[in-house]
Amino acid sequence: MKKLLTVSLIYAYFGVIIVVIGGLRAYWNKYKAPPDQPINFPHQIHVTKVGLKCFFCHSNADKSIHATVPPVSRCMSCHKAVATDRPEIQKLTGYWKEKRPIQWAQVHKLPDFVYFSHKRHMKKGVACETCHGQVGAMMKMRRVRSLTMGWCISCHRLHQASTDCATCHK
Ligand code: HEC
Ligand code: HEC
Ligand code: HEC
Ligand code: HEC
Ligand code: HEC
Repeated sequence: MKKLLTVSLIYAYFGVIIVVIGGLRAYWNKYKAPPDQPINFPHQIHVTKVGLKCFFCHSNADKSIHATVPPVSRCMSCHKAVATDRPEIQKLTGYWKEKRPIQWAQVHKLPDFVYFSHKRHMKKGVACETCHGQVGAMMKMRRVRSLTMGWCISCHRLHQASTDCATCHK
């Protein structure tokens, strides 16, 4: 009897652990897991080791709504000569030779009914890191903020920016 009790307790114990792990995994996949990219592009190397500024690649961030991802030609200004023996750079060179754009997986995406503008936030001097985290330490790009309405509004309150519905919902 006692043995049976112990055994069922052990099962119950593992049952709980499995449910908890399952929940954490679902949460992780939804909010934190970075998507795989066609090429494993490391921000860490380019920002921290090579010392490139964000605007070198995301040159529209202060000019338009979208920051935009750079064309392959921007990469090839270095990678015609740099690290040409690496498989990821050979893949990159393949895109360039075939004149194919790289279909990067989107990491940040607001629903279509939300209006957001990079330019407006750049003008007010909000740093990229405030919304995108320590990009210079990321080997793989991932999302670090929820991008929920509550997140937008709490910062707008803090900075006395508009919280009218029509500001973000046209
Ligand atoms: C050498 C070019 C280069 C530099 C420099 C660079 N990036 Fe990027 N960035 C990319 C490429 C390529 C992608 C798409 C692949 C990826 O997501 O890893 C990207 C993706 C991103 C994304 C995600 C886009 C999405 O899909 O949501 C963010 C955010 C970002 N970069 C921010 C930054 C910030 C902030 C800096 C400066 C600290 C920076 N980047 C510097 C090339 C660059
Ligand atoms: C106030 C918060 C905020 C700041 C500051 C910010 N971003 Fe973003 N970024 C976002 C949000 C929100 C999205 C998703 C936009 C969408 O889906 O329309 C995004 C998307 C992106 C994307 C992918 C989509 C696109 O617009 O091309 C890139 C690349 C990016 N950001 C780079 C940067 C860089 C580089 C900087 C600094 C120069 C920066 N961001 C500053 C909030 C911010
Ligand atoms: C200013 C020069 C420069 C530009 C522009 C540049 N890179 Fe790089 N990249 C480097 C250097 C330097 C390294 C480190 C090479 C090493 O490890 O010796 C590197 C490393 C890499 C690696 C890692 C290679 C490996 O497997 O070790 C990838 C992938 C990469 N770059 C892709 C890109 C892509 C994609 C772009 C364009 C969005 C780009 N790079 C733009 C200089 C550059
Ligand atoms: C880190 C702080 C911060 C975050 C996070 C933030 N904003 Fe802002 N936002 C500001 C500031 C500061 C302004 C500048 C107001 C101004 O121009 O006077 C602004 C301005 C704007 C404007 C232009 C307002 C106008 O008067 O035309 C829009 C649209 C906007 N934000 C949308 C968003 C959305 C959507 C999000 C979330 C996805 C967001 N913001 C997240 C700080 C932030
Ligand atoms: C600073 C920007 C901002 C302002 C101001 C804002 N919203 Fe939003 N709203 C968002 C963002 C971002 C989302 C999408 C993310 C989310 O669902 O949290 C959203 C989503 C929503 C949704 C859909 C929720 C859902 O669960 O799908 C509704 C409804 C909404 N907003 C109504 C409003 C109303 C009403 C106001 C005015 C009282 C308002 N919003 C003001 C940024 C904003």
